Amino acid sequence: MPEDIKEKLSELGREALEILEKADTVAEIENLRIKYLGKKGLVTGFMRQMGSVSAEERPAVGQVANRVKTDLASAIKSKLEALSDAEEAKTSLDVTLPGRRHRRGHRHPITRTLNEMCDIFIRMGFDIAEGPEVESDYYNFEALNFPKDHPARDMQDTLYINDNVVLRTHTSPMQIRTMEKKKPPVWVVIPGKTYRRDSDVSHTPMFHQVEGLVVDKGITFGDLKGVLTVFVHQFFSPDTPLRFRPSFFPFTEPSAEVDIGCVICHGSGCRTCGYKGWLEILGSGMVDPEVFKFVDYDPQEVSGFAFGVGIERVAMLKYGIDDLRLFFDNDLRFLKQF
Ligand code: DAH
Repeated sequence: MPEDIKEKLSELGREALEILEKADTVAEIENLRIKYLGKKGLVTGFMRQMGSVSAEERPAVGQVANRVKTDLASAIKSKLEALSDAEEAKTSLDVTLPGRRHRRGHRHPITRTLNEMCDIFIRMGFDIAEGPEVESDYYNFEALNFPKDHPARDMQDTLYINDNVVLRTHTSPMQIRTMEKKKPPVWVVIPGKTYRRDSDVSHTPMFHQVEGLVVDKGITFGDLKGVLTVFVHQFFSPDTPLRFRPSFFPFTEPSAEVDIGCVICHGSGCRTCGYKGWLEILGSGMVDPEVFKFVDYDPQEVSGFAFGVGIERVAMLKYGIDDLRLFFDNDLRFLKQF
């Protein structure tokens, strides 16, 4: 009789495990648990028959019953865990979906233009330098030969921090800072932010310039023309016409502005060039001997030239952009075109 009960108990256990193997929903497993291990379940029913087993046999039968119970209970537990892991994996990750593409960013058109310009000058042997945007009146004006109350200061709508400190109105103060630090030969370009109190389609309060300065023995206006011609031909195109037009800046003598043939009408005259056929792109000139006095350079020994280019201005001409403010709106529909 006890052998019979033990055999049946084991049989019941195997049967339950087989059904569990095939079950694949939580409900099925729960039904199975109730059927075998519940209060009125089959295994429990056998335990009730323990009364009919003799006292000596009871421990052996009890042992089998317990083993069947715990084996089944732990198998049910692992199966439920496996199911819930699979369920979770289904909702959080579908490995059969195609991957999501990462959108690739790129440099802002101003940064790109600035880098392109600097690269051209680097190939001609120039160094790159940078300087402060908050500048003293001395570097922004005084040492560049703009005396106090000189009318030329009106050319620049200056943003003042106080009587002696300004947001630099141009990158030219770096000419002075460079020459203070270094003896000739100097071949340097300085890109950076500049500020003026001005705002419309072609002016923003902050804009960018690239300054250039060359000082050495025997530098002539011919060198200035050569360097700026190479720059224009490499930056725009080798057949872009350019001209040097006399101008005035307090820190250069003689001074010249450079015009290029209008990129829109190619010289026949249109609204962009004001029907002149030419567009101004930069200011330049031979460094004024007065400026050399501020940095202890001897004008009898050395001579030099300088130039300043507006980066937004040349970027607009190169890429055909008609509103300067587009550069600073950060509208992706605009930026994605570069
Ligand atoms: N600093 C001038 C401006 O912002 C541009 C300029 C003109 C720079 C002549 C130069 C130069 O270096 O030689 O209008």
